Order: sequence, then structure tokens, then C-alpha cells
Amino acid sequence: MSKEMIGELELNRIYQRDCIEGMRMLPDNSVDLTVTSPPYDDLRKYNGYSFNFEDVAKELYRVTKEGGVVIWVVGDKTENGCESGTSFRQALFFKEIGFNLHDTMIYEKDSISFPEKTRYYQIFEYMFVFSKGKPKSLNLIADRKNKWYNGKKQIKGHYRTDSGEKARHNKQNLLKEYGVRFNIWRIPNGHQKSTLDKIAFEHPAIFPEKLAKDHILSWSKEGDCVLDPFMGSGTTAKMALLHDRNYIGFEISEDYVKIAEERLEMYLEEESYAK
Ligand SMILES: C[S@@+](CC[C@H](N)C(=O)[O-])C[C@H]1O[C@@H](n2cnc3c(N)ncnc32)[C@H](O)[C@@H]1O
Repeated sequence: MSKEMIGELELNRIYQRDCIEGMRMLPDNSVDLTVTSPPYDDLRKYNGYSFNFEDVAKELYRVTKEGGVVIWVVGDKTENGCESGTSFRQALFFKEIGFNLHDTMIYEKDSISFPEKTRYYQIFEYMFVFSKGKPKSLNLIADRKNKWYNGKKQIKGHYRTDSGEKARHNKQNLLKEYGVRFNIWRIPNGHQKSTLDKIAFEHPAIFPEKLAKDHILSWSKEGDCVLDPFMGSGTTAKMALLHDRNYIGFEISEDYVKIAEERLEMYLEEESYAK
């Protein structure tokens, strides 16, 4: 069976290399969606690897298709009582180089790792949604139970007039049982919650499968190409695979690539049985 290619690289593979070098091998406008979490500030050492943020952002812009989306999951380090502000600086840089800041979403965790005594406990990370122009694939998840829903009642909706006053629509709307989600996502994290794959926890900082899955479903369609330049334990690849998307990824650490490959192996087998 011939392998599907993306430029000089094979699709559905994780390459052990620096992501800037890796992305340079991808053609312009070839990626539909990126879901990634880079190492931020120097919170963790990741076997000592680092990256040049500005070069990564520029490569992401070049490889993203028109209408493609980048999900950038980041947080800030607090040092001498002050947050670094790196997340905001990065978001503004993405805008400077041409991305649209489509949304600033919040990933709210359900557990904290390092409680602090001088401020409210840190429980979230940003999920910046950058798009190259208008997002071309949009499937907003509607799983928010509508508290006013009673199965029968029809309500009149409100809107704002041009002068800012509240007015009623003439026609009646039937309230749906489920509405589109808000942009703060509370996602269980940690052991037995981020994933059930034990091997993934050999990596120090995985994000939950649900985070990757819900973004993949929201901003891409089947057959699309999903990139993660900081693949870690392979969460984005696994969720792309299980939802009939192609993936491509880079990870600089040989140890982490091994973890990701081993993790994916069982799902790759399932896929080939299914086809
Ligand atoms: C926050 S972790 C990603 C975790 C991943 N989302 C998961 O669920 O497993 C960031 C990863 O980036 C990798 N990394 C650091 N510098 C890199 C570079 N220049 N190129 C590719 N990967 C790099 C680190 O080794 C680390 O595994």
C-alpha cells in the first residue's frame, strides 16, 4: 500500500526532530489544523530541549491552509510574585504575523499541582484559537444543557437594536434542549482522567485527550491533516487517528517519541482491523 505524503514527509508519522526543521519540510498551505502545547516559560525541562517561539509561529503561519486553525495551549510561569505574561506576548505575535485571534478560550482543570498561598489557586491555561482568515471548518459542539428548557415552552428571543436598546423578536423561537458550549472548557486532568493509557504518564506534561478531541471535532473534518509540532506523548496524534483525520508531528526527544509510538501502536492495529 502506498504511503500518503505531505511534501517530503509521510503522513501519520511522528518524526523525531526539532519542529522548526520538521515544519520547513512541509509545503506552504498544507495543514488544516494544529493542536499543540509548547513548552512554556521554563516550567519543565523536557530533557533540556528548547525552541525559538517566533520561528515556530512563522512556520505555523506558512504551513497552515487558508481557513486553517491553530490551537495554542499555554500558561505563564510566576516568578518573584509576577506572572511572565508570555502567553499574551505570544498571542500578540501570532496576530502581528497575520493570524486572526479567533478566540481566547480557557482550559479549566479540575485539579491543581502546585497550590500557592499568596493568590487564588491557578486552575487554568489559555487555549488560543488562531485562524488564517475565516475558519473553513466549524462544528461547534452543542452539549450545554439549556437550563430553561422544559420540552414544550416557546420563548421570545431578545436582540439589541442599532442604538443598543433591548428589543423582542416578533417570531417565537423554540428553545433547544442543548445549546452551543461556552468558551471555558472544564476538562478533568491527571491520572485516570487525561487518558487511560498508562504509558502516556511517562511524559511529564500531557494534555487531556478530551481537549485534543474536542478541538479536532470543532475545527476540522474527516480526512484533514492535523499537526502537532510538540507531540510529547502523542495525544493529538491519537485523537486525530481515532476521529479519521491524518496527523503529522514532531518531537525532539527520542524518549518521548518512543512513548508516543508505543501508545499509538495499539490504536493503529485497531484501525487496520477496522478497514
Ligand atoms: C507540553 S509538552 C507536549 C505534551 C503533549 N501535548 C502531550 O499531550 O503529550 C511539549 C513537548 O515539546 C517538546 N519539545 C521541546 N522543544 C522542541 C522542539 N524544538 N521541537 C520539537 N519538540 C520540542 C518537549 O520534549 C515536550 O515533549
